[in-house]
Amino acid sequence: PPPTVLEAENATISQGVVESNHAGFTGAGFVNLDNVAGSYAEFTVTAARAGDATLTLRYANGTTANRPMDVGGTLVDFPGTGAWTTWATRSVTLPLVAGANVIRATSATANGGPNLDHLAV
Ligand code: GCU
Ligand code: CA
Repeated sequence: PPPTVLEAENATISQGVVESNHAGFTGAGFVNLDNVAGSYAEFTVTAARAGDATLTLRYANGTTANRPMDVGGTLVDFPGTGAWTTWATRSVTLPLVAGANVIRATSATANGGPNLDHLAV
C-alpha cells in the first residue's frame, strides 16, 4: 500500500512552532522545534495489525551538527542536510500495536531537533 503521510504541522507540538519559511516541505509547513532538549512532536500512527513498521521522518537540518531525537524510544540521528531548504529522511523500525500508537519524536540534546516535515508509515 502507499505510505500514510502524517504531516508534522498536524502533530501535537511541545516547545515548537509551525512555520513555512523554508521551501520544499510537504503539506502546509513544517515544525520548527525549540532548540532545547525535550522539545517534541507527537504523532498518532494507526496500524491495521500489530507488528514491526518502518517509520520515516522527513527533516531538514541546516547546521553541521547532528540533532539526535528519541523516536518512540529509539535514538535516531538527524545529521546536517546542508541547508534548511534541503530535506532528507531517516527511518526507524518500531513495534506497533493494532490501532492507535502514540509516537513521540523528542529532541535529545540542547541543540533541539531538526525541522520536521512529516512522518511516513
Ligand atoms: C534557523 C532556521 C529555523 C531552525 C533554526 C534552528 O532559525 O530558520 O528553521 O529551526 O535555525 O537552528 O533550529
Ligand atoms: Ca529549531
